[in-house]
Amino acid sequence: MTSVDPATMRDVMGRFATGVAVVTGERHGVPHGMTVNSLTSVSLRPPLLLVCLSAGARSTEAITAGGRFAVNILSARQEHLARRFAQRGADHFAGLSVERGRHGVPVIPDAFARLECDVDRHFVAGDHVVVIGEVRELRAREGEPLGFLRGKFSDIVDRGREPVDWFF
Ligand SMILES: Cc1cc2nc3c(=O)[nH]c(=O)nc-3n(C[C@H](O)[C@H](O)[C@H](O)COP(=O)(O)O)c2cc1C
Repeated sequence: MTSVDPATMRDVMGRFATGVAVVTGERHGVPHGMTVNSLTSVSLRPPLLLVCLSAGARSTEAITAGGRFAVNILSARQEHLARRFAQRGADHFAGLSVERGRHGVPVIPDAFARLECDVDRHFVAGDHVVVIGEVRELRAREGEPLGFLRGKFSDIVDRGREPVDWFF
């Protein structure tokens, strides 16, 4: 039996700084979205990414049943959207004009970057559902990303270092 408690797990993993995204989907014509920082690039050929979504959340159901979703990576100026889409039980799109991507999935207008995906596969892992998406469309704009570190939104600063060579 493990003795790792959830608060400690969250506190320690919170040292791993991330960006912030809103995953969006649709179910029975109703748009859903939730703020995530569990976004990870999985594969380049084919282009796959994953997000880990809370097993009970409405967005999780919308995305796994609908078979499509968009990942909207937020800019430093979109913290208000990160907070809006993290509110439990709220109608996250209330008052927002719903824009759609090329695959018809609701998207966040003016996101820092956007990746539209088909669900490749999904499986339950503990209290979350791991959703692997195959990227169909993607775009990005200039700007600064929103960061998340130790439970707080933060800036991610480009210090102009040399780019890293990728050997794999
Ligand atoms: C910065 C940040 C990152 C989050 N990352 C995730 C995540 O990766 N997976 C997840 O299930 N919930 C994550 N959450 C919590 C969800 O955003 C929140 O529980 C959800 O939007 C509530 O929606 P619901 O009413 O449909 O349950 C995160 C919240 C914040 C503020």
